[in-house]
Amino acid sequence: MKRETQAVRGAGDLEKRNGPMSTPIFQTSTFEVADNDEQVRLTGSDHYYTRYGNPTNTIAEKTIAQLEGLDAALTFASGMGAITTTIMALLQNGDHIVAQRDIYGGVNKFLSHWLPKMGIETSFVDTADYDQHARVIRPNTKLLYIESPTNPTLRVVDFKKISALGKQHGLLTMIDATFGTPINQRPAEFGIDIVMHSGTKYLGGHSDLICGAVAARRALIERIWETRTTIGNCMDPHASWMLVRGLKTLAVRVARHNENAQRVAEFLSDHAKVRSVHYPFLTSHPQHALARQQMTGGGGMVTFEVEGTAEDARRVTEAMRLFTLAPSLGGVDSLVSIPVLTSHLMISAEERARMGVTDQMIRLSVGIEHADDLIADLEHALEAVSSPEHVHVG
Ligand SMILES: Cc1ncc(COP(=O)(O)O)c(C=O)c1O
Repeated sequence: MKRETQAVRGAGDLEKRNGPMSTPIFQTSTFEVADNDEQVRLTGSDHYYTRYGNPTNTIAEKTIAQLEGLDAALTFASGMGAITTTIMALLQNGDHIVAQRDIYGGVNKFLSHWLPKMGIETSFVDTADYDQHARVIRPNTKLLYIESPTNPTLRVVDFKKISALGKQHGLLTMIDATFGTPINQRPAEFGIDIVMHSGTKYLGGHSDLICGAVAARRALIERIWETRTTIGNCMDPHASWMLVRGLKTLAVRVARHNENAQRVAEFLSDHAKVRSVHYPFLTSHPQHALARQQMTGGGGMVTFEVEGTAEDARRVTEAMRLFTLAPSLGGVDSLVSIPVLTSHLMISAEERARMGVTDQMIRLSVGIEHADDLIADLEHALEAVSSPEHVHVG
């Protein structure tokens, strides 16, 4: 089945000839059994105890696995839960990780502050410098961790190169593919082992739930499942039902996000008060050719720098009406945020400079409203940038 069909029908039972059209919510913590033999048989299934699994969660998980073209998937209470549980499941004391420098701030914090407590070290490398990735690999390196496109700079990582490096050194490769969505890119087709999403964003799609998902080959998923069950990082069935409902419209939403974001990025590129625009499907993007090879759409995220000061960036975001000032992304409603005041607030100024995250940067999560209205909102808001004679550089 094509992705559009998988998103809508993928995990449903197409053979069933009766019953509800919508996925039932198994809003239960536990499951009754006929006798103790059955009790033992069902241990570890999705009809035992909801921390282990739940049929509503199973539908979401099967749909995500199909969309990613991987054996199996698991859902978690949040995107961070998906990342932390997966890494704790697959690595142990004494192991080493190679991770890109520009990854989501929460992951950076987990790798640099939490994992050392468990005896796991991370070397951070420049995102597009694959020689540097290779140079820091040690005998105890177990995992290559990437994010693509990156937040908020929208750099695109070469999946083929990362996968080849992983195979050459016997490492697992893991991607945070939240910005890419399984509609615009399928990293597993390029050999990436573990594909993770903050389902809070595009998979749910309506800014109304928090969840995470990980897809991989079955043997890895079994190990991650053991850890998820022990740590208790499972998703509530009601939230799973909302995720399943969101997934049904993923393909149509992403198509519209792609179209709108392309128009917004082109508009911003021509604007005198805009210094730079970051969007993978703009021809000016440094990895535009790579983005076209491994993605079928540029996605809904656009980042730009105002031709002015940090104060100008604040004024622009506060002058917007349709783009709502809020962290997060991937929902049908357009959102705007300033990375240095949100996702990257906890990262030092020097580290931000190395990532290319500036004080003038504004990140847009372009929603599915009409592009004309979004552009009109930006046009109006950019009037808040001071005229050049009032700009204080520095
Ligand atoms: C790229 C990316 N990865 C992971 C996360 C964490 O996901 P969650 O907030 O669902 O824990 C976020 C959240 O903003 C994100 O933007």
